[in-house]
Amino acid sequence: MEEVIFLRKVFVTALILVLAFASCSFADGVKIGSCIYRFSDAFMLRFRNAMSSESTKEGAELVLADSQNDQATQDSQVDEFIANGVNVLIINPVDRMKSQSIIDKAKSADIPVVFINREPPASILSTYSKAYYVGAKAEESGIEAGEIIAAYFKSHPEADKNKDGKLQFVMLRGENGHQDMILRSRYSVEAISKAGIPPVEIAGAIANWDKLQAMNIMNAFIMSIGPENIEAVIANNDEMALGAVEALKANDYNKGSAEMYIPVVGVDANASALDAMDRGEMLGTVLNDADGQGAAAVKLAVMLAKGQDVSKEVTDGKYIWIPYQKIARGEKK
Ligand code: GAL
Ligand code: CA
Repeated sequence: MEEVIFLRKVFVTALILVLAFASCSFADGVKIGSCIYRFSDAFMLRFRNAMSSESTKEGAELVLADSQNDQATQDSQVDEFIANGVNVLIINPVDRMKSQSIIDKAKSADIPVVFINREPPASILSTYSKAYYVGAKAEESGIEAGEIIAAYFKSHPEADKNKDGKLQFVMLRGENGHQDMILRSRYSVEAISKAGIPPVEIAGAIANWDKLQAMNIMNAFIMSIGPENIEAVIANNDEMALGAVEALKANDYNKGSAEMYIPVVGVDANASALDAMDRGEMLGTVLNDADGQGAAAVKLAVMLAKGQDVSKEVTDGKYIWIPYQKIARGEKK
């Protein structure tokens, strides 16, 4: 049964790719094949759009494939891309720890590969001279999210609800093993403690970057802990922050009353989070620069495909880092 489903997936994937290639006639421009771990991810939608518009600017042809959160699907999409003669790959791995198979495929076809958003370990990236990574430093976003919470706590003494001088927070984590989940969780808490406020995690769970999962988890926490005992919600991304906000609103929190408010921070600066901040439902976020990362990935891919020297574009021979940016409430840009 599983095999049938798998074969069907492979077939559908192949068909999608064949149709995609048929509909765009590759002239002599650069052909880029790109796999996105999951099209339904809100932040990756911004990323995809940025890549598409940069490709248009560069006169390159970009074919995007939805890996549907399945590494085997992604591996066969890469095979199809190579068989169809792309000049370069841009890969958002489903499982960054399994990037070796993608590198091996690119290497044997002798085409460059640019990884995005999910950082392969250096030990894997170093096995191919034409493998690169474009992303953002996860610890930076963690520090900035923690600083937003710390600044709020300092300027709002009433936020310390139990008056113990510590910050009792709930943490909503992204996908297990993702560098952004590990480092944002660690550094946000560290930044709060560096600001002189002892952080206390009273509850935490993995919600896989997902709004609905986060909403359900937050509802359960509200029931078991009591909203009056939660002093902040730290979410590894905006979708989960918005899920928490939904749960809070369902319990009459974060609807405008100063007494019934819990500061919530996320990361990404997706439009829906900025809107929630404008409505006063969410405290802050950190801009994860999809435009900057998408454009940089495509520019690098095009240069690599043309065999140009990229040594001045990258650091440590392999990386392009796009900075994060703090966005607190009221500072919407
Ligand atoms: C993170 C982003 C999340 C999610 C994830 C996917 O950088 O903040 O919202 O998109 O990447 O890998
Ligand atoms: Ca407290």
